[in-house]
Amino acid sequence: MDIYTVIKKRRDVRSWFDDRVIPENVIAKILMAAHYAPSVGFSQPWNFIMIKDISTRNKIKNLVIEKRKEFESNLSEEKKSLFSDIKIEGIMESYMNIAVTCDFERSGPDIIGRSTIKETSEYSAVLAIENMWLAARSENIGIGWISFFNPEDVKKILKIPENIKLVAYLAMGYLKEEHDIPELQEKKWKDRMQLEDLIFSEKWNNKPDGQLIKSIKNTYL
Ligand SMILES: Cc1cc2nc3c(=O)[nH]c(=O)nc-3n(C[C@H](O)[C@H](O)[C@H](O)COP(=O)(O)O)c2cc1C
Repeated sequence: MDIYTVIKKRRDVRSWFDDRVIPENVIAKILMAAHYAPSVGFSQPWNFIMIKDISTRNKIKNLVIEKRKEFESNLSEEKKSLFSDIKIEGIMESYMNIAVTCDFERSGPDIIGRSTIKETSEYSAVLAIENMWLAARSENIGIGWISFFNPEDVKKILKIPENIKLVAYLAMGYLKEEHDIPELQEKKWKDRMQLEDLIFSEKWNNKPDGQLIKSIKNTYL
């Protein structure tokens, strides 16, 4: 797949995992892709915790079940009914889970760029995740990002030190189905916005000239 196809076909996967084993050399390649991400001052603030243990996964799944109930209880009746059909995690169905963390102090105090914007460490970890997501997809492997929990609860389960931030909890496994549009779009929860409405020229809220907009409208991945 070329890069645009991988971008188009990457999905957040909850429902479409199968249980085939992912060979270690494939996992290694996906993690190496993550490790090649840009990072502020080349600080490489990430760690990756590989989680296969069923009882650990079960504990995290239980946290998600609780938060799902909480979220659901605040929805309108109409949204509740839509949401009831939406799966928000594939913790147990996937081959393995991966927690991605960020160390804001990694590589010492003299990190170029980090002294002004602390969040750049976390941005770097997120870029590593996107690299992983795309690399996995090119191997016919899906990833789902799960955030329905209090991160401190997950940190306790995984014994992550206090000064390390949990950035993401991911489920990863081979795909049994391909989907070209997000599950939330398929299930009528939300549509993709029009790119032309999100682009400004020179200043906030200033629309670009017609040619770019015309080109955008004729652009398909
Ligand atoms: C930071 C982040 C957190 C997310 N958390 C969840 C989650 O808890 N549960 C879930 O089902 N999807 C989660 N998603 C996936 C989004 O719902 C998904 O990316 C979006 O619907 C677009 O679909 P696509 O990734 O297939 O293009 C998360 C995505 C991001 C980037």
